[in-house]
Amino acid sequence: MDNILYTSQKKYLEKFLRNDDPLITEMEIFANKNKIPILKKDSAKFLEVITLIQKPKFVLELGTAIAYSSIRIARNLGKKSLVYTIEKSKDNIALAKENIKKSKLENKIKLIFGNAVEVMPKLDQKFDLIFLDADKLDYKKLFDLSLPLLRKRGVIFVDNLLWHGFAASSNVPKQQKTSTKIIREFNEMFTSQQNLKTTILPIGDGIGLGIKI
Ligand SMILES: C[S@@+](CC[C@H](N)C(=O)[O-])C[C@H]1O[C@@H](n2cnc3c(N)ncnc32)[C@H](O)[C@@H]1O
Repeated sequence: MDNILYTSQKKYLEKFLRNDDPLITEMEIFANKNKIPILKKDSAKFLEVITLIQKPKFVLELGTAIAYSSIRIARNLGKKSLVYTIEKSKDNIALAKENIKKSKLENKIKLIFGNAVEVMPKLDQKFDLIFLDADKLDYKKLFDLSLPLLRKRGVIFVDNLLWHGFAASSNVPKQQKTSTKIIREFNEMFTSQQNLKTTILPIGDGIGLGIKI
């Protein structure tokens, strides 16, 4: 599928996504090499900015992978703040643990092994920022479970709402039809919530941003 932005603009803007953290660079290379999906650089930068603006005390991440975004969030949190992050893959949990150790942020990231669909109803914590980045088949369920856990004025940040460009395409390949349908339905539902002010931004693979009102 094509890039979502014009190639020239994308290239121009990429110049400004500077990163001077060797661990972040190492994780980007590892994820790319091992085909592990992580946030795109522009989306990760945007999530950092949102974290700094909102100053959340408690963050919930659904889908840790190798803890790339968990670490980028945690680095921008206040002293007493915490990220809870849920991951269902044993392999990814092990990689996440290793990276969190390397980042020296063990005291700011609470890594939870399990399927978020099962873990979330057991959480007794409310959150100021929820980042949804799990399997697309689970998106609606995880979104529904997120709303009661989100504080008033809390922010929900959702990745992949342009679904590699397929969401807006009339030419969707067979193997992408189901996931594209799921994302399209999610976008309709996300943008028609009564208790959320929402927008979908053409950053990375499409970021949904909502604030609980
Ligand atoms: C796109 S990756 C997450 C990337 C990560 N947020 C980042 O940007 O660095 C999605 C991850 O979510 C995990 N996952 C998918 N569905 C899940 C669920 N229902 N509960 C917990 N983890 C899930 C997958 O195993 C995968 O590691």
